[in-house]
Amino acid sequence: MVPPLILGIAGGSGAGKTTVVHKIVEAIGPEISLIIPQDTYYRDRGDLPLEERERYNFDHPSAFENRLLSQHLRELKLGNPIPQLSYDYRTHRRVESEELLHPRKLIVVEGIMLLEDGELREVLDFKIWVETSPDLRFIRRLRRDIEERGRNLNSVVRQYLSTVRPMHLRFVEPSRRYADLIIAGEGEAGVELDMAVERVRSLLGERRKRWIAS
Ligand SMILES: Nc1ncnc2c1ncn2[C@@H]1O[C@H](COP(=O)(O)OP(=O)(O)O)[C@@H](O)[C@H]1O
Ligand SMILES: [Mg+2]
Repeated sequence: MVPPLILGIAGGSGAGKTTVVHKIVEAIGPEISLIIPQDTYYRDRGDLPLEERERYNFDHPSAFENRLLSQHLRELKLGNPIPQLSYDYRTHRRVESEELLHPRKLIVVEGIMLLEDGELREVLDFKIWVETSPDLRFIRRLRRDIEERGRNLNSVVRQYLSTVRPMHLRFVEPSRRYADLIIAGEGEAGVELDMAVERVRSLLGERRKRWIAS
């Protein structure tokens, strides 16, 4: 088997990462792609009482089990399956599942804290940053948390000011420098998306050639 290509998509909360991931996967081929959200590697906080879980800093690197994520990515690279994780944002608990994820030619990992982590950067073959101004990211996040996660204006604003914004400035934004390509998360991003897709295609092709030659 040709070892999978591991693509990382990072950027602040609400930048448009998930949107970019779907566009790239659509262009490359959903049947040869596997998407892994870093959010599914949030630490299970069942050890904390629910009210403390709600005040927890979900925007600090330590909120994620990044060692487990990099280990899983290395397994996929070796051609081995990994357990499928999922996360319940309401209870802040990991949801157990019996499902396995099998490696595919293209693995796309997306999350705010991907490029911040040295070990993760090492497993990523190509790193993309999605850039969107903070006001738009905040509006998108506010809308999502109210419409999809049952939150209210006050709680979203409080969380944004107390953790999301300071952690973004401290950890997320500085990791932008590690990206190989920056894509605009506002508007169409046509040219940059085409460049990303071309780059992924050519990396997949190189891998195949190297594998055939070996
Ligand atoms: N380029 C874009 N132009 C306009 N709206 C966008 C764009 N990219 C994403 N959005 C919208 O912004 C919101 C957040 O996008 P999403 O991809 O979920 O961000 P992230 O995964 O980075 O948090 C969604 O409602 C999405 O439809
Ligand atoms: Mg997302």
